[in-house]
Amino acid sequence: MNVFEAIMTRRSTRQFKNIPVEEEKLDQILQAGRYAPSGGNSQSVHFLVIENKEVLKTLADMAQSEFAKMEVTEDMYRSMANSVLRSKAGGYVFHYNAPVLILTANLKSYSNNIADCSCALENMYLAANELDLGSCWINQLKWLNENEVVLPYLRSLGLEEGELVYGALALGYPDTEDGLPNRKPLERRGNKVTFIR
Ligand SMILES: Cc1cc2nc3c(=O)[nH]c(=O)nc-3n(C[C@H](O)[C@H](O)[C@H](O)COP(=O)(O)O)c2cc1C
Repeated sequence: MNVFEAIMTRRSTRQFKNIPVEEEKLDQILQAGRYAPSGGNSQSVHFLVIENKEVLKTLADMAQSEFAKMEVTEDMYRSMANSVLRSKAGGYVFHYNAPVLILTANLKSYSNNIADCSCALENMYLAANELDLGSCWINQLKWLNENEVVLPYLRSLGLEEGELVYGALALGYPDTEDGLPNRKPLERRGNKVTFIR
């Protein structure tokens, strides 16, 4: 796959097979993330790679109970409101039971924290596509990144003082008939382009 094919065929995967990702593939994906550009060459993105099933379950349960405490407001971001409503209903697993969840964290005090994490995440989505793995951006831990229950738990897992989670990626083999990710491009109706020539 060349880079244009990888970009055009990358789609989000939200159903995963319960099988692990090979270490070699995981290493390649992490290298793709680590080789993303960073503001001022800061290289301050911290990748927390969670494969431990108990930890994944604890995080999913914790997120569900923290979202369930919130009330949906009119101006709430639609996806976040959805997380709140689904958590109140029960059985909400924000990472779609993917076998791997890669958190991208960065320094709260650094002005390019989200931008650098986003560059790393996109590189990892494209690398996952090249390797026939499915992936999806996961935003729930960003919304809970200063939560009084979630933050101490993330610190206990290795999130360092001064760092917060700014994005995440669910990764695994797609639960599709042929085992490959859906690669049908979504039509673009937005993302306007203005040429000034
Ligand atoms: C900043 C950002 C946050 C996102 N958050 C989530 C999320 O929390 N859960 C989810 O299932 N998808 C999430 N997505 C994936 C989008 O829903 C998805 O990219 C979009 O619907 C287009 O579909 P595609 O990725 O298959 O092309 C997010 C994407 C971005 C860029």
